Amino acid sequence: MTTVSPGRIPDLDTPALLLDIRKVQRNASTMVQRCQDMGVSLRPHMKTHKTIEAGEIMTNGTKRHIVVSTLAEAEFYAGAGFDDVLFATPLTQDKVQRCARLVTQLEQFHVMIDSSAGLDAIKSTPLSGKQWSVFLKVDCGYGRAGVSHDSVEGVELVRSVVSTPGVQFAGLYAHCGDSYHSDSPQEVKAVGHRTAQNILTFAARLKQEGIECPTVSIGSTPTCSQPADSMGQLTEVHPGNYIFYDVQQSLLGSCTLEDIAVQVMTRVIGHYPGKNHMLVDCGWTALSLHSFGQLPTGFGIIDGHPELKLSSMTQEVGKVHAVEGTLDFDKYPIGTVLKILPYHACATACMHPRYYVHSGEDIVAVWEPCRGW
Ligand SMILES: Cc1ncc(COP(=O)(O)O)c(C=O)c1O
Repeated sequence: MTTVSPGRIPDLDTPALLLDIRKVQRNASTMVQRCQDMGVSLRPHMKTHKTIEAGEIMTNGTKRHIVVSTLAEAEFYAGAGFDDVLFATPLTQDKVQRCARLVTQLEQFHVMIDSSAGLDAIKSTPLSGKQWSVFLKVDCGYGRAGVSHDSVEGVELVRSVVSTPGVQFAGLYAHCGDSYHSDSPQEVKAVGHRTAQNILTFAARLKQEGIECPTVSIGSTPTCSQPADSMGQLTEVHPGNYIFYDVQQSLLGSCTLEDIAVQVMTRVIGHYPGKNHMLVDCGWTALSLHSFGQLPTGFGIIDGHPELKLSSMTQEVGKVHAVEGTLDFDKYPIGTVLKILPYHACATACMHPRYYVHSGEDIVAVWEPCRGW
């Protein structure tokens, strides 16, 4: 729900999550354009923001063709008029009734399986007047989930899907999370290329068996921000983080620090010259512990202050040191506002019950994300 709350950034209580609406819109339209240029359809993932408003922006207003990671998200978007929703977490028996309700409610709701247990869950719940639409999750090298792209079992599972009454085979889906382990833009491209080749080869094996594969989908923000040419042979990509971007993405070459749309606003709340640090009201409940403090500037980047390091955090507060030498306390009186660029925007956004959306210094909206599972 959007609640317009007139006000200005300096009036906000801290900590607060700030979203620069112009950067959000620019990040979204750049990805839409890139996918059009590649000739693939964009099925954006909602997991980074989990809001209706950003979902509308990412789908260019269509409210169609999205991926979600939890059933709470699926129900949230379905209730807000979104359709063609893919629940991209392997399905198990405990979740099948909620999925069945979504199939009935929506024109198109897709589930994903990577085992015969998933298919058994679907078989246990036949639908009247509708078919289940099933994606197969494929492991193309990331190693987290999915049937192996070159396995016999994968083809056998698809054969079982297509021969099950009341079930439609929707296609193949692989997340290239291994792109996050890359050391260079070349490596990111290589992961995108390898994943595309592996999944396309799998689709070709299915074709030899007489099985058509309507959708062949891969993606992550790194691979879709710096796509390999071969990704143009896919039908679809499904990145999500690009709507906000973050420090991690800038290190992978997906974006510049300028593109990062999200900041955690905090204030200086204590000076400790004897210990050479100051305290801010941003702990791990406002930023998350991602990055584990490994950046030269600690747990994030304090925007406009390369001389400062967020060196540690407890639940509600963080310690800020000088990157080098003695902290000049006079430069940061108590009450000073600092804005932190997060290392991992998905983890940071998840910590906040509302996002303050701004244009310049003006708050133009407050977005309330979906929470829970
Ligand atoms: C299954 C799945 N698909 C798509 C994505 C989107 O990738 P990214 O966050 O790199 O945009 C993720 C992210 O974790 C994911 O787990």
